[in-house]
Amino acid sequence: MGVNIDHVATIRNARGESHPDPLYAANFVKKCGANSITIHLREDRRHINDLDAKKICSQKNLLVNLEISTNSNIIKKALKFRPNYICIVPENRKEITTEGGLDLFKNKTKIKSIIKKFKKKKIRTSLFINPSFKDIKICKELETDCIEIHTGRLANLVKSKKSYLKELNKIKKCAILAKKYKIEIHAGHGLDYKTTKILSKINEISEFNIGHFIIGESIFFGLSKIIKNMKQIIKK
Ligand code: PXP
Repeated sequence: MGVNIDHVATIRNARGESHPDPLYAANFVKKCGANSITIHLREDRRHINDLDAKKICSQKNLLVNLEISTNSNIIKKALKFRPNYICIVPENRKEITTEGGLDLFKNKTKIKSIIKKFKKKKIRTSLFINPSFKDIKICKELETDCIEIHTGRLANLVKSKKSYLKELNKIKKCAILAKKYKIEIHAGHGLDYKTTKILSKINEISEFNIGHFIIGESIFFGLSKIIKNMKQIIKK
């Protein structure tokens, strides 16, 4: 399981100060059991910034998955920071979060050249895609090491208690096809306990990348201790 710590930076940036520190968070989530750390260096740097990415990627004890768009400046930075893994994602300036998978058909040549650059540096490459056979076939052509299936649609159906079986089946069939092509399969976006449990039945998926729910839920599980600590200090 990869833990996305972007929203630690979101909280830090809300004050423009240094707490909570994403580098500390990266080491802390590893200590808590995360297998890897995911950070997204967005073009508008709304959460993780260059210095965070540089520091986190240089931690030899961590496996870092850097999410990046196909923007040439971001690619240059990523090649410099040398994370263990990269995941190429689409980026639309006005979106709140990554809203869909890559348009592989439109960006085939560009993505192929990006994958080559990272593979040359022995960085594991992944493409964030919608669950579609057409895209999985293009992924094979592009020789990506991994794909990450966008699970946002499934998560929304589960959360709104709508029928999700068709979407789940699509994800499962795509995972089977990708496995046949010897592509490693990951899943991510919008995952909470319920959707993760549903997806965990798909054996072909070897990695889950989860962010917002883990950080959000942690607030409730951490509040009690922090409030007690503060009350203790005030009493003294
Ligand atoms: N995987 C990818 C490729 C993403 O872009 C994101 C969101 O940044 C996530 C996983 C994590 O999504 P969430 O924060 O909804 O768990």
